[in-house]
Amino acid sequence: MDGFKIGIIGVGGIGSAHFGCISSGKIRGMSLGGICDIDPERLEHFRKKIPGIPAFTDYREMIKSGGVQAVLISTPHPMHGKIAIEALDAGLHVLTEKPEDIRVSVAMKMNETAKRSGKVFGIMFNQRTDPLYQRAREIVKSGGIGELKRTSWIVTNWYRTQHYYDSGSWRATWSGEGGGVLLNQAPHNLDLWQWICGMPEEITAFCDVGKWHDIEVEDDVTIFARYKNGATGTFITSTGELPGTNRLEITGSMGTVEISRGRLIYKRLKKDEREVRITSKESFPGADLDIDEYVPTDRGTAHAGILQNFADAVLEGRELLAPGVEGINELMISNAAYLSQWTGKTVKIPADWEDFDRRLDELQRGSEVKCGKQGEIHEGYSERWSVRF
Ligand SMILES: NC(=O)c1ccc[n+]([C@@H]2O[C@H](COP(=O)([O-])OP(=O)(O)OC[C@H]3O[C@@H](n4cnc5c(N)ncnc54)[C@H](O)[C@@H]3O)[C@@H](O)[C@H]2O)c1
Repeated sequence: MDGFKIGIIGVGGIGSAHFGCISSGKIRGMSLGGICDIDPERLEHFRKKIPGIPAFTDYREMIKSGGVQAVLISTPHPMHGKIAIEALDAGLHVLTEKPEDIRVSVAMKMNETAKRSGKVFGIMFNQRTDPLYQRAREIVKSGGIGELKRTSWIVTNWYRTQHYYDSGSWRATWSGEGGGVLLNQAPHNLDLWQWICGMPEEITAFCDVGKWHDIEVEDDVTIFARYKNGATGTFITSTGELPGTNRLEITGSMGTVEISRGRLIYKRLKKDEREVRITSKESFPGADLDIDEYVPTDRGTAHAGILQNFADAVLEGRELLAPGVEGINELMISNAAYLSQWTGKTVKIPADWEDFDRRLDELQRGSEVKCGKQGEIHEGYSERWSVRF
């Protein structure tokens, strides 16, 4: 196959930016075979840009049209799972926006379907292309900080106003979105946290609902985590802080990796701290270490990079940088965080996902999607979707 056609389902904020990227021919081997949105005016807007492009108001019609070999799902998150499963079952490759879904139970079904189908299943974790996070992962995975002791990520620069929350009818509601900052902004960081440091085994969390905005879901979260080896972690995120911070620090027995202000500082001890603690004849020895500073010259290939990697996986069998099946990991952390907030208890992973579903169902029954409004249309990728420090 020289190339393949992809259909975009949901041409809203990010979907319109994907439309711009793919239709301008930037992605080798991938061309646009159709667009789908429940909003006919939105479809009309894009039809004018590419006259004759197949346009659908029902994604099922696009899936069975035969005009696309893959779909890119950029609808609100609660639909990701349902659409992905139907598309994979119909023999299409699938690239879904993050989060994989809002429920671990659905993500499990998506992963089973993807495996059974043998089709390429990717997820838009565009921040995995950032050289800083790639370097941090290399250091940690290669044993460069020794045994993990502590992780700490404060990522509070996801600032959003009330205007933002009012800009889309589905946003910030249990029924339309399924959650707040944990499901919309933080999935990138939760994914990187586990990608670099591994999965925590248990979670205790405060997920404060409507702390800074008039919304029914959480906009301020503190997660306490414990890893299998006893290491601990904290993950703090918010959409109510200005200017906010984006600072990751990972400590192990052989040193520390810090990422902040667009640079990575790697402090590598010459001797493992555990050995120093036992063998040193001093009471307060200083750290004997090498310090490397890494300041990348670019911010990575971001969304276009994930699209190209997906195209290469479909056409050449290239390994995915962000396999869809890995989307379940960050979702396990966020679902466990909600469960901890709702029960007031520490939650072990894997958690009782049926209990999570029952509790979310209850919240969704009492929740109303605000009417009428749609998100903005973008010509290109917005700065607000890139890694910021
Ligand atoms: N990777 C990133 O950087 C990034 C950035 C923004 C959004 N996202 C993700 O993309 C998704 C969409 O977010 P957004 O901000 O673009 O939202 P949006 O509201 O701007 O766009 C969603 C679009 O989906 C359409 N839609 C709703 N139901 C549909 C259906 N059943 N079939 C077809 N179309 C349907 C809506 O009409 C709208 O045009 C979310 O899951 C979000 O988390 C990812």
